[in-house]
Amino acid sequence: GGGARQLPAEEYRDIIATLPRKQSTPFTTVHEYDGAWILDDWLPGTMAFRRRFEARAAGDVVLASLPKCGTTWLKALAFATAARGRYDVPSSCEDGDRRHPLLRLNPHECVPFVEVVYNAGEEAKLDAAPSPRIISTHAPYSLLPASITQSSTCKIIYISRQPKDMLISFWHFINKRIKPNIIPFSDIWNSIYNDAYPESPIWEHILGYWNMSKMEPDRVLFLKYEDVLRDPIKNVEKIAEFIGQPFSDAEKEAGIIESIVKLCSLENLKASAMNSTSNYQRLMKEVPSESFFRKGVVGDWANYVTPDMAERMDKYLAEKLQGSGFSF
Ligand code: A3P
Repeated sequence: GGGARQLPAEEYRDIIATLPRKQSTPFTTVHEYDGAWILDDWLPGTMAFRRRFEARAAGDVVLASLPKCGTTWLKALAFATAARGRYDVPSSCEDGDRRHPLLRLNPHECVPFVEVVYNAGEEAKLDAAPSPRIISTHAPYSLLPASITQSSTCKIIYISRQPKDMLISFWHFINKRIKPNIIPFSDIWNSIYNDAYPESPIWEHILGYWNMSKMEPDRVLFLKYEDVLRDPIKNVEKIAEFIGQPFSDAEKEAGIIESIVKLCSLENLKASAMNSTSNYQRLMKEVPSESFFRKGVVGDWANYVTPDMAERMDKYLAEKLQGSGFSF
């Protein structure tokens, strides 16, 4: 025994070398792993997650999404809801002593990406996390570990978003994260046509979760970013019921749902994330905290692309989704 386990990047190096690879942006490449195109940085963690993750018998809560579809927000809402027994939801965000984690941390610190955890060799943290354990992933349903997909107690919450807005959001994110304004917008836009967006093809990602949510609604809850924006209260209630922690009448009367929504507003989360001084925050220097919080609106794409470009994209995706019962 003893001896640290190899990091996934080392452990899976030989397998990864055999996988098809292509350019995603001028600065990033993706590998095809069992039908999905995964960013190089994420692939070893994705593989380790799939192979090694052990769901708890009592059930875990798994948050799943494509990048830039409202992941950060879903993390905050689900965390505030699921952990309300441990952390009282403040009725005011002016709360001087910042007891609630979401008043002092980035939501990505409260709910880690499981790929990032495995990549860093920090899986012991997953064992240490109190129940209900909440993890998040960008992996498609087909790459989830069997211990999650075969569990009757694990709860999966997916969030989708109109892809045109997702692409605008991604472009801003990438441009901030690497160097300003050196990636042509067309590379990002065409990543849909080229299956080069992380976790592509995006329609397979969406339909994987969509179909499961129709077949097994007790196990997979499918949310849309646009719906959550329109009616956050209703969606927080849905989340609470779905994870088996419905709000009591007393909680409702006390306005706890409104307080959760307020705590998780873009402005509050952004302020907390930027004030965070934790270790994880320092590790994220490549991805500045504020880059997870931009506008948070529906339809920003109209400020960036022509109606023709939008129409072509809509048609292309509608074809891919045809017959599924899903539309954006
Ligand atoms: P925009 O760039 O369109 O503003 P992800 O969390 O998956 O990376 O997605 C990021 C997107 O979610 C960004 O979209 C960001 O502004 C938005 N977002 C982050 N926090 C939010 C919140 N509390 N409410 C609404 N939208 C939020």
